[in-house]
Amino acid sequence: EKGGWPSFMAKEIDEDPEAVANTLRGRVQHDTVVLPDLDALGDDYFTGIDRVVIVACGTAAYSAQVGVYAIEEWSRIPSVVELAHEFRYRNPVLTERTLVVSMSQSGETMDTLMAVRYAKERGAKTLSICNTQGATIPRESDAVVYTHAGPEVAVASTKAFLAQITALYLLGLYAAQVRGTLDAERRAELLTEFQTIPEKVRTVLDVRPRIRELANWMADTRSVLYLGRNVGYPIALEGALKLKEIAYIHAEGFAAGELKHGPIALIEPGQPVFVIVPSPRHDDTLHPKIVSNIQEIRARGARVLAICEAGDAAVLPYADEVIGVPPTEPFFEPLLAVVPLQVFAIELATAKGLDVDQPRNLAKSVTVE
Ligand code: M6R
Repeated sequence: EKGGWPSFMAKEIDEDPEAVANTLRGRVQHDTVVLPDLDALGDDYFTGIDRVVIVACGTAAYSAQVGVYAIEEWSRIPSVVELAHEFRYRNPVLTERTLVVSMSQSGETMDTLMAVRYAKERGAKTLSICNTQGATIPRESDAVVYTHAGPEVAVASTKAFLAQITALYLLGLYAAQVRGTLDAERRAELLTEFQTIPEKVRTVLDVRPRIRELANWMADTRSVLYLGRNVGYPIALEGALKLKEIAYIHAEGFAAGELKHGPIALIEPGQPVFVIVPSPRHDDTLHPKIVSNIQEIRARGARVLAICEAGDAAVLPYADEVIGVPPTEPFFEPLLAVVPLQVFAIELATAKGLDVDQPRNLAKSVTVE
């Protein structure tokens, strides 16, 4: 079933492009998002809500964190992510105007299921975004939007993450369409670009041999840090999680702006740091800030591994490795930037001789609280 790949995880990373394409399929018609799955929530549902809360754990929570930037920006609905296991232990404010979205690949994660039940009891509507047809969470929710990443076997989630972000972006664009918060021309532009993403992800996968060399060379590394801003921040967290879970290496993701509030003290000569750099073309605020973060850590001896738009000249002089990704809209950058980080984790774990599909102490779906 591994189709010639050495592991399910390697095969599933190779399926990143299709995960996006299949989750989009049939849901975009010209300049319109079509999501009949949401009809179950009721007519004009999205005009009447005043808050979106996404509950999830692990990688699913990081995809949700990417998603809320876009949902809030496009639909202007205040949106937050909450770890499912924290949510129901703090008496959250929930009304019938709150949409509680659960994000789960398996649809069986107990913490997430309990959060959904809690939300229902408290009168909120529930929407499940799930990769597994007929799983418990979608069955118990008011509506469901399936991600179509295909079965994910490896414990470390990869292609499902891209499908989850795709589904949340569709949800954000749909809500914006219903609420009239994004002009049609801009929506059309975004949807056109969205459909090019599977091909761009495929291009990014070409970096595999280079990252293998990098990982072989770094097999003895004891700690790796990841920095990002805005939608790059949850990508930093996700990159770090991948490395912890399959390569058993200490890894931490930070919002780059937090550096000087503490983490920069960790930087010593030789410390590898991945930096997720937003494209300079769209953004004259974040890009220079990230470049100055890079300069700050480089001045303290960090080994900078930059993931940036191919040809970003501002990064070149300060980075030890530059992993270029094709240009795209800022909101789609996470779908490209995460891929080299997935590849880095699997290559480092492989270099250490570990079983990447079945990391120690972990289960694919966590069905206990
Ligand atoms: O099946 P779910 O999406 O609900 O699983 C949530 C987490 O347990 C899961 O994403 C976990 O963090 C993965 N092992 C990450 O690779």
